[in-house]
Amino acid sequence: MSGLLLTEIDHVAIAVSDLEAAIAYYRDTFGAEVVHRERVDSDGVEEALIKVADSYIQLLTPTTETSPVAKYLANKGEGLHHVGYRVADCAAALQSVKDHGGRTIDEAPRPGSRGTTVAFVHPKGAFGTLIELVQE
Ligand code: CO
Repeated sequence: MSGLLLTEIDHVAIAVSDLEAAIAYYRDTFGAEVVHRERVDSDGVEEALIKVADSYIQLLTPTTETSPVAKYLANKGEGLHHVGYRVADCAAALQSVKDHGGRTIDEAPRPGSRGTTVAFVHPKGAFGTLIELVQE
């Protein structure tokens, strides 16, 4: 690998129990408006995106009891869930993770929200942070 594979912070994802309450908090406290909402049934989540400069705050809530985010909330409570790094080439960045002995959650890039292509990197092997690689 040569050169920087990460181009920007795409989003910071925060797991919340009550999506409407979290949206109201960001709106009332920081004047932040939701620019995108999406239910991703394959991941068992609903998200609300708040734009901050060229990045997003992604408020994330589970839509099923078996969703990984539901398990996260049960174990750890609300809070920082993952960081999404924007990449030019998701497959190349994922390959670099594998080449450097990292653990991946997704074997190959897959569709994410907003029509993006994404892949998750396991926090074990990434200093405790769940990483999402996001290609627009
Ligand atoms: Co995300």
